[in-house]
Amino acid sequence: MLNDRSSILSLLATRRSGRPRDLVAPGPSPAELEQILAIAMRTPDHGKLHPWRFVHVTKDRRAEFAALLDRAYRAGNPAPGRLELEANARFAHQAPELIVALSSPTVDHKIPVWEQQLSCGAACMNLLLATHALGYAAGWVTGWAAYSPIVLEAFGRPPERIAGFIFLGTPGAAPEERLRPERHEVCSIWAPGA
Ligand SMILES: Cc1cc2nc3c(=O)[nH]c(=O)nc-3n(C[C@H](O)[C@H](O)[C@H](O)COP(=O)(O)O)c2cc1C
Repeated sequence: MLNDRSSILSLLATRRSGRPRDLVAPGPSPAELEQILAIAMRTPDHGKLHPWRFVHVTKDRRAEFAALLDRAYRAGNPAPGRLELEANARFAHQAPELIVALSSPTVDHKIPVWEQQLSCGAACMNLLLATHALGYAAGWVTGWAAYSPIVLEAFGRPPERIAGFIFLGTPGAAPEERLRPERHEVCSIWAPGA
């Protein structure tokens, strides 16, 4: 049990995002993806509203996803550059697996939308942790496409919002650690009037 606990803590302490473009095969198997999504759903959720959805863009749909990004980008940029269009195509095809996470709040509910959005972020984080625990890496990114009404229309409808594109796979190289805030910068002991 103690060993279990220390290995869980070490998993939590070592998670790093994978850069989506550096994620290679193998990605999670269908059964592993099920497990990852089941863990993502095990998230604090005030009011049991499950204010999030996950849409798996399977490999055979990546070309359609690329076409969607192309169309959406051209709609907002009447004279797009070749490099930008190529970057969009690379984005659509990168990494073995792609999950689109949607914030899916119930509006006009006593549970504020803000709390529902927090729950969505927490569900995404659980997804990242489960992916890491299975030995893969995930990269949670947004970019212009997450804010495009045309892209949203293909996955959901307002008040839903795209919380992110979460790419999953095996990191090509072990990611280096990055700077983290010092504990005193973000954690303190409450001292009213001090
Ligand atoms: C909502 C959200 C959107 C993000 N969008 C991007 C993005 O578009 N591009 C990017 O490079 N990183 C983005 N990030 C940051 C990465 O997901 C990741 O947290 C960062 O690379 C730090 O890595 P770490 O998770 O290993 O600390 C986003 C993070 C969040 C929470």
